Amino acid sequence: MLVHRRTADLLDWRNAIPSGTPIAFVPTMGYLHDGHLSLLSEARRRAGTDGQVVLSIFVNPTQFGPNEDLDRYPRDEAGDLAKAASCGVDLAFCPSHPRELYPGTPAGTSSGADAAANTGATWVNVEGLDAHLCGRSRPGHFRGVCTVVCKLLGLVRPDVSLFGEKDFQQLAILRRMHADLFLPGTIVGMPIVREHDGLAMSSRNANLDPVARVAALAIPRFLAEVRRRFAAGERASAALVDGAAAALAPGRVDYVEVVDAASLQPVEAITGPTLCAVAVHFGGVRLIDNTVLLP
Ligand code: PAJ
Repeated sequence: MLVHRRTADLLDWRNAIPSGTPIAFVPTMGYLHDGHLSLLSEARRRAGTDGQVVLSIFVNPTQFGPNEDLDRYPRDEAGDLAKAASCGVDLAFCPSHPRELYPGTPAGTSSGADAAANTGATWVNVEGLDAHLCGRSRPGHFRGVCTVVCKLLGLVRPDVSLFGEKDFQQLAILRRMHADLFLPGTIVGMPIVREHDGLAMSSRNANLDPVARVAALAIPRFLAEVRRRFAAGERASAALVDGAAAALAPGRVDYVEVVDAASLQPVEAITGPTLCAVAVHFGGVRLIDNTVLLP
């Protein structure tokens, strides 16, 4: 497995790949778990024996708000590279510094906070789909996600890029960006991988203390109850999530929302594919999870 730390080296590598070679790409922020590995295994399968699997590991600063957990985001590059190699990754792109992806702005060509942070002048913003869920509670988050994924897609030029449905809104927004900007390849969504007790795998689970780790099981328990009510015939959104705050206690609820799975706009009654999504803080760690309801 190759490891490149400089954007110029990634580009040289990419430009030397013979045309027609399938390339499958999995962008991550590292601290890899079985959810990430499921994406890498599917990437390996789709690239085939002649193809190339590219993994990126980059904790993207522009998708973190000022009071979020950028400094506490878990990292283990050596462990990640060992796992990646065992999944058959051909190239891991691990930028040595954020400036590899945000080369900065020549003086006088940008202003305000972006210039101060020297992040560059170009941003990708998908409008509308971020009005609810994480978009509402994390302003600017998806602008950071879209910008970095757009840069990575431009560098890697993959035939297929894989993303998890755990970040359902991220996947929906990236699909829209990909279509609107005619970006290369196709986008594939992959199912949520869970711990054996039901907690959705997340790099942030590493920041849960043992008490919060047990308490966090309220999330999958709550989503199972939503699915049970739905299976029993309940179609009113309010009734489906009634009692959420109590069910998720002692977690502090950021949001519990029932939205149309395509528009991500709230629905009062379920008539088509619908997403029930939650974000809840346990012991200072913000966790997200969701379930799709199909009438
Ligand atoms: P990260 O949280 O590292 O996730 C990388 C990819 O793994 C995303 O597509 C995410 O949806 C997927 N993933 C995470 N947990 C999963 C699980 N339990 N089951 C299945 N897939 C899972 O998402 C990001 O990084 C960043 O926002 C990124 C897209 C890399 C842009 O910086």
